[in-house]
Amino acid sequence: MSPFGCWGLPAALLALFCCPGSGETFEVHTYPDGLETTLTKTLVASGTQWKQYLVSNVSQDTIIYCYFTCSRKQKLKSLNVSVFYPPKQVLLKLKPTRVAVGGSFTIECWVPNVAPLESLTLTLLRGKEAMHNQTFRTMALAPQEATVTRNATAHKEDGRHNFSCRADLDLRSLGGDIIHGVSEPQTLKVYEPMPDNQMVVIITVVSVLLFLFVTSILLCFVFGQHWRQRQMGAYRVQGA
Ligand SMILES: *[C@@H]1O[C@H](CO)[C@@H](O)[C@H](O)[C@H]1NC(C)=O
Ligand SMILES: *[C@@H]1O[C@H](CO)[C@@H](O)[C@H](O)[C@H]1NC(C)=O
Ligand SMILES: *[C@@H]1O[C@H](CO)[C@@H](O)[C@H](O)[C@H]1NC(C)=O
Ligand SMILES: *[C@@H]1O[C@H](CO)[C@@H](O)[C@H](O)[C@H]1NC(C)=O
Ligand SMILES: *[C@@H]1O[C@H](CO)[C@@H](O)[C@H](O)[C@H]1NC(C)=O
Repeated sequence: MSPFGCWGLPAALLALFCCPGSGETFEVHTYPDGLETTLTKTLVASGTQWKQYLVSNVSQDTIIYCYFTCSRKQKLKSLNVSVFYPPKQVLLKLKPTRVAVGGSFTIECWVPNVAPLESLTLTLLRGKEAMHNQTFRTMALAPQEATVTRNATAHKEDGRHNFSCRADLDLRSLGGDIIHGVSEPQTLKVYEPMPDNQMVVIITVVSVLLFLFVTSILLCFVFGQHWRQRQMGAYRVQGA
């Protein structure tokens, strides 16, 4: 029997077909025929050659045993149940979010509470192009946080694409599908750094303009005073 994936969810439906193809009728014992598990189980339906159970409260990998009697012989089938935690949340951060052309920035992607990590691939994307992907190797049973960090150099066109991170949990070897998760897009602001000599020219021009402005104000003030004194002198002459 192939292992069977479930959603790390409260419920999994198991259909057990005992003695397939056998035309014989067989004795039905109330025990031990049926399902042996520490999990919560409920008999949903049954027929002459099968029983269907609802197994719930699955929180970690487990083995479920099915006992059945075939031609008066008791037999056993086991089923490995693999629990997975889908990448519900995929988070992406660009540090810094504003960078000069040629400057470096860090792309960090993380997925909390995911399992099994061996089935996970994290891919960093610029627009639709995959920049980097990473797989993981761990034998931990509990769900964990998976992260990928990458340093990059800012190109002019980086500002025109969004960055994102994709998580693929490939459960095909466990009899499941590929589960995808993707982050919100993040934008990088890329600016042209100002060349040094251009900066010097700008500072010089600004300084000269500032100097001329201050000088003209001073001259205005001095000439203004001078002119007022001459006007007053002229009145005094007229009055006399
Ligand atoms: C579910 O499992 C937990 C332990 O994993 C147990 O404490 C709890 O009683 C179980 N709930 C039910 C309804 O069986
Ligand atoms: C089930 O898991 C056990 C170990 O946990 C392993 O030895 C066995 O081969 C597995 N069975 C199947 C059918 O994959
Ligand atoms: C990861 O990258 C390699 C090449 O670097 C590529 O062959 C592979 O298909 C990529 N995997 C995924 C899941 O994108
Ligand atoms: C990225 O660069 C920083 C320093 O700028 C360094 O500390 C860090 O280890 C680098 N990370 C990677 C994944 O190369
Ligand atoms: C980047 O993402 C924003 C939303 O965050 C979207 O409005 C914008 O169109 C996207 N730009 C590109 C080039 O995909």
